[in-house]
Formats: sequence, C-alpha cells, structure tokens
Amino acid sequence: MKIVTAESAGFCFGVRKAVDIVYREAGGPGPVYTYGPIIHNQAVVEDLEKKGVRVLRSEEELAEVKGGVIVTRSHGVSRAEEERLRRTGARVVDATCPFVKRIHRTVEKESAQGSEIVIIGNPDHPEVKGIMGWSHTPVTVISNEEEARSYIPRGDGQICVVAQTTFNANKFKDFIAILQQRGYNILCVNTICSATHERQAEAREIARIADTMIVIGDSSSSNSAKLYEICRKECPDTQFIQSWRDLQLPPAGGDGVVGITAGASVPSTIIEEVQLHVRAEF
Ligand code: F3S
Repeated sequence: MKIVTAESAGFCFGVRKAVDIVYREAGGPGPVYTYGPIIHNQAVVEDLEKKGVRVLRSEEELAEVKGGVIVTRSHGVSRAEEERLRRTGARVVDATCPFVKRIHRTVEKESAQGSEIVIIGNPDHPEVKGIMGWSHTPVTVISNEEEARSYIPRGDGQICVVAQTTFNANKFKDFIAILQQRGYNILCVNTICSATHERQAEAREIARIADTMIVIGDSSSSNSAKLYEICRKECPDTQFIQSWRDLQLPPAGGDGVVGITAGASVPSTIIEEVQLHVRAEF
C-alpha cells in the first residue's frame, strides 16, 4: 500500500502565523484572549484553552476584558473593531494574515483618494466585513453574476475592485469583465490568495489516483467540506474525518493508494497521527 500526503495539506501561511502568535503569547504573564476562535479547529482551541487562552465570542465578553492581550484572527478586523479592542486597555496583537492586511491598506488608501470600493466576495464572511470597515467611502459587495450585472456605481469616479482572498479566481475574472464591458473606470487589484486553490488542485490530483482518499478537517470548516466534495468526485471512497479515530478501515489490508489531505485549519500533528494510523492499520 502506498500513502500519498498532499504537500499543501493543513495550515496555510496566514493561519500558521496566527496560531504561532497565540501559542507564543500564551506563555506570558497576563490573561490572553483571541477575538473569536483563532481557527476552525476544536482540538487547537481546546489545547489553547488549557494554556489559559480564552475565546471572546460576544460584545458582553469583550466588555469584561480588563487588560491582558487580545489576538485578532487571520481574517482581520475592521478599523472600528480594532479601536474597540484597544479601548479595553488590553494590548492588541494583530494576527491578520499579511495578504488580508494588504487589502485593508489598499481599500483605506484608495477610498481616501475618493475611489468607490467594490469587494468581490461573500458579504457575510468575517474577512469581507473586516475589509469593508477600512473604507472611507460606502462599499458594494458583489457575490454573484447577477449582482455584477446589476451594479451601478454611486458616482462617476474611479472604482477600486478587490477580492476576498479565498474567492474563486475564474468567477473573479468573469465579474471584472462584466464591469469592464460597461466602460467603468476600474482599478482592479487581484487579491486572491493562491493557497486555497493550490490545496484544492493538489487534492484533486491525488484523489484521481487514490483508491481511498482521506480528507481531514473540522465539521465546521467550509474549506475542508469543499476539499471533501472535490475528492469525492474523483474517488468514491473518500472519508471526511476530524482525527484518526474516525478512520474507517477497509475489510482487509490492500495494495492500493491511500491519499491524505487536510483543510487549512488542521495542525500538522493531526495529519501525522492520521498518517501513522493509516500505515499501521490499513
Ligand atoms: Fe492568508 Fe491565504 Fe491563508 S490570505 S490566511 S495565506 S488562505
């Protein structure tokens, strides 16, 4: 039996950075909080809780904070949220992914110069809400083709278009083409991060040759669910598991290929445990 593990499985650069920051801060003297769960992974959040890190999940919980350290998530926060966090008196550690931070800076600068801001992405996603909060001018969020077609600028100046980092690159291009056809004065900044696309493409390749494909991810993680969906199309025997305990063993051994990939919020220790058990039990 051959095991093929995706090189892009698990944490992307931004998530790894954010998680490392929280672990580093957890060793300090004062209370440490994260503004929302640092990643969609229960095991990591629980491990951090054991080290004294508390997740702030509501305004009421934030209001109770008196000093200590608050770490923001890789998705980033709006300017107003950042200011609110600082007003608690806590030291605010910005763990926003640098790729997301770059979007904040672009939106802040371009809107200050009078550009209208358009974000191509999901308006309910915390990353998009955070980006909106850096604009000095009203923002339009376009999430589908219909919205791209019906979009009417508020003025006749420049329109700065950015994307949610995990947005589908082909759809982004299509929406930009729709806006350009109208002859609008567009400054298009492609802010899509390739980490998600690369993870999906590699998972698809491995699932194509695998007899059994294992996708590791938290049940609440949408990028892991997407990976499962992609792999399932290529390999009917695809298992979606949270840890090695969920592995379903084949009836008897086998010479086939077992592929392994993992969502962006899965730490390398969990991937290694799965590899070990697959090797021992399949
Ligand atoms: Fe950053 Fe890309 Fe990950 S934007 S958080 S490295 S998916």
